Amino acid sequence: MTIQETELEELGPGLWVKRIPLRFFSMPMGTRMTVMRLTTGYLRVHSPVNITDDLKAQLAAIGPVGYLVAPNRLHHLYIRDWHDEYPDAKLWGVRGLHKKRKDLPWTGVLGHEPPPDWAADVDQVLFRTAYQDEAIFFHRRSRTLVLTDLLESVWPEDAWHYRLFARLAGTWRFPTLTRDQRLSVFKRRPAREVVRRILLWDFDKIVLAHGRLVTENAKDVFRDGMRWLLKD
Ligand SMILES: [Fe+2]
Repeated sequence: MTIQETELEELGPGLWVKRIPLRFFSMPMGTRMTVMRLTTGYLRVHSPVNITDDLKAQLAAIGPVGYLVAPNRLHHLYIRDWHDEYPDAKLWGVRGLHKKRKDLPWTGVLGHEPPPDWAADVDQVLFRTAYQDEAIFFHRRSRTLVLTDLLESVWPEDAWHYRLFARLAGTWRFPTLTRDQRLSVFKRRPAREVVRRILLWDFDKIVLAHGRLVTENAKDVFRDGMRWLLKD
């Protein structure tokens, strides 16, 4: 089975998501982008998917694109096309991407606090592994936690080899970090503090790049997925 492209769908007030099929190391994981409309009216596009005329028209109907966000070292694939299309949009990415993507005019590096660009609407923290930082966001108005690869889950509708991978990785029908990601959390104490800080946010749904959206019992789902870190 393959992941189907979805329309830009409003998940909550001021927050939209869109999913597309995408293979990563031949695994049909799909990916998902999140668009937030800030109180200034500007759109903040997180982990953008491929840009099309349809999508541009849909965005034009909800606001001007003000910010493009690459939340970890892997989710930057379409940023160049987006920046060509919206050259005035500010470009934010995690540590390490500035070296990897020297072709892009970055505005800044995502840190443990939100920059003034979106602090009025969005909380922010960094989850660090040995491999990469992932910037995690909370859109207050829609009560949505926006993750990228931190939690990943694989379900019966996914392709058989992705399901097999998930059984080995620990993500079969269970949103959590893949085993290799868990092993790359070398500094467990600060990581645990980050998880505790996230649990203080008042979210009732979770967007993740790979897997189903979480729209019920979101806090329990997040806590369960991070229990391996919280318990020690
Ligand atoms: Fe990813």
